[in-house]
Amino acid sequence: MTANELRRLYIDFFVKRGHKEIPSASLIPENDPSVLFTTAGMHPLVPYLMGESHPLGQRLVSCQKCLRTGDIDEVGDATHLTFFEMLGNWSLNDYFKKESIGFSHEFLTQVLKIPQEKIAVTCFAGDESAPRDTESAKIWGDLGYPKEHIFFYGKKENWWGPAGTTGPCGPDTEIFYIHDKPDCGPNCGPACGCGKYVEIWNNVFMEFNKDKDGNYIPLGRHNVDTGLGFERAFCFVNGVSSVYDTELFKPIIDKISELTNTKYEPNNYKAYRIIADHLRASTFILGDDRGIAPSNVDQGYILRRLIRRSYRYLTQMNAPANSMANIAKVVIEKYKDIYPELERNQEFVINSLNREEEIFSRTLESGMKIAKKYLENVQNNQLAAADAFRLYDTFGFPLEFTQELATEYGVSVDADGFHKLYAEHQEKSRAGAEQKFKGGLSDDSIETRRLHTAAHLMLAALRRVLGDSVMQKGSNITPERLRFDVSFNRRIEPAELAEVEKIVNEAIADAVPVECKEMPLDEARASGAIGVFGDKYGEIVKVYKMGKWSNEICGGPHANNTGELGRFKILKEESSSAGVRRIKAVLVQDK
Ligand code: SER
Repeated sequence: MTANELRRLYIDFFVKRGHKEIPSASLIPENDPSVLFTTAGMHPLVPYLMGESHPLGQRLVSCQKCLRTGDIDEVGDATHLTFFEMLGNWSLNDYFKKESIGFSHEFLTQVLKIPQEKIAVTCFAGDESAPRDTESAKIWGDLGYPKEHIFFYGKKENWWGPAGTTGPCGPDTEIFYIHDKPDCGPNCGPACGCGKYVEIWNNVFMEFNKDKDGNYIPLGRHNVDTGLGFERAFCFVNGVSSVYDTELFKPIIDKISELTNTKYEPNNYKAYRIIADHLRASTFILGDDRGIAPSNVDQGYILRRLIRRSYRYLTQMNAPANSMANIAKVVIEKYKDIYPELERNQEFVINSLNREEEIFSRTLESGMKIAKKYLENVQNNQLAAADAFRLYDTFGFPLEFTQELATEYGVSVDADGFHKLYAEHQEKSRAGAEQKFKGGLSDDSIETRRLHTAAHLMLAALRRVLGDSVMQKGSNITPERLRFDVSFNRRIEPAELAEVEKIVNEAIADAVPVECKEMPLDEARASGAIGVFGDKYGEIVKVYKMGKWSNEICGGPHANNTGELGRFKILKEESSSAGVRRIKAVLVQDK
C-alpha cells in the first residue's frame, strides 16, 4: 500500500460516515502561546472542542502535520520521529463512545484487515476527575474483545491532554497491536513498554477543560478526538518494523547515501536516521506558510538545533557543502503533492538551510577543537557549566549538542549550571538590548517617539493581517520616518498594506493612552505581550500597552497617547534580505 493510499483510505472511510475533510493546519499554531508547535490533529480544533461551532459541521477528519520534540533523544532508533503526520477524526458534541469505538474497530479490522485477536485496548480506571470508563470497556466487550485484552489504567496512561498547559482533555481508550512475543513478566501489558504491545490509535473522550489552576472543569460537551500516527500505521500495513524502510524515507535515505558516499547499514543507521528525521522536520517548519527562520528563541531555536545536529552528522560523513538544502529538495519533492506549501516556500527553505550552514560551519570546526580539549580534561566525569556555556556563547553549540558530544566521551554535562549561566547572561544583555532598541531611534524628539509608537501599532496590525509569524527584525526611526524590518517570506500585497494602514489609523482614532508597566518576563509573555528581542531580555521587562491595539515588550520611549500620532501612511514595502521585508512609513499631521 502506498502512503497516499493509506491517507485516502482513512479520510474516505470517515467521509463516508458523515465527516468533512479539513486540510492540515499550520505546524506553527495560530493564536496559541501554550505550545510551540502543533502536536496533534486536535490542536487547530481547540476553539471548536470548547464550544464554537465549526463551519463544516460536527464531524471532521484530517491528516495533520505535527511536531513533537519530547522524544528527540530517541530519534535514531527504528520508530521515533520529531515530525509526523496524524490521521484523526472528530465528533464536536455529536457521536460519542459507541460510534467512535465502532468506527475504529471497523477501520482496523475491515479496512486494514488486522485480525481482531491481535488487538488489545485500554480504558480509564477512574479517579477524582472522572469515573471508571466501564462504558467503553463494555462497548469493546460487545464487539467481541475478550476481557484479557481490555486493560484499565489511571491518568498517566489513559487520560489525554491538554496539549499545552491548559485546554480540552479527557479520558481515552487506546488501541494496541499485540506482537507475537512472550509476556515480559506477570504485569506485561500495553503500559509496560516491553514492545509486545504497540499503540496504534488513541480515542479521547474530551469532556473536560483543564484551567490554569490545574482543575478539570466539565465542558458540558461530549467531544471525541482521535489520533492515529500515520508513519507508524504505514509501517504496520506494509509489515516493516522501521519507518525508515518505507517509501516515505527511502528517497531521503538514498540522497544521504549519495551525498556522503556511504551505505545505509547498521553501523550508521543512527546518523542516517537523525539526518533524515531532523531535515524532514526542518523542511516542514521552514516550508510552512507560517514558516520561521532559525533563531535563538522558541520555534526558531528548536529548528536551529535540528539543523545543527544534522549538519554535524553530515560533516562527520564528509558530505559536501549545501547537502542539507539538497536533502530538503528531496523532502519537498516527496511531499509537495500533499503539502503544496513546501513548494511555494521552497526558496525560503533552501536559503535558510544554506545560511544556517554558512553561519554554523564558521564556528563548528574551531568549537569542536575546544570542545575536545574540554572533554578530555573534565573533572569528576562532568563537563563544567562554564565550558558548556562557552561552547554555546562563542560557538553556537546548543546544550543538547554538547551533551551529545559529551556522551561520546562517556561524560555528562552540568546542565543545571548551564541554565543558571544562561539566565545570568540574559540578565546582562537586557540593558544592552534596551540600548540597542534605543539605538534604533535617532533621538528622543516627540516626532521620533510618535513614530516609535506607530511602529508598535504597525507590528501588531501586521501580525493581525499576516499572522503571528511576523516578527520585528530591526528598526530605524528618525523624526521624519520609520523604517522597519519584519520576518515574512513573500511580498506584502498592496491590499494587505492598506489593511495594516487602516488598523493603525483606527488605533490612532481610538486615542488610547500608551501605558508602560514593569513586570517579570513570564508575566509579560502570559499577558500576550510580544517580545521583539526574544532571549535578550532579562527577568524584569517593560511592557508598553496601547489599549486593545498593541502589547509589546520594549525599552521605550513612546508618545503618551495614540491620539497624538496624526495620520499613518505606508510609503514603501520591499525585500530587505531573504525572508525579511522592509517597510517605510510616516505620520502625516493633517492640521
Ligand atoms: N489528541 C490525541 C493524541 O494526540 C488523539 O489525537 O493522541
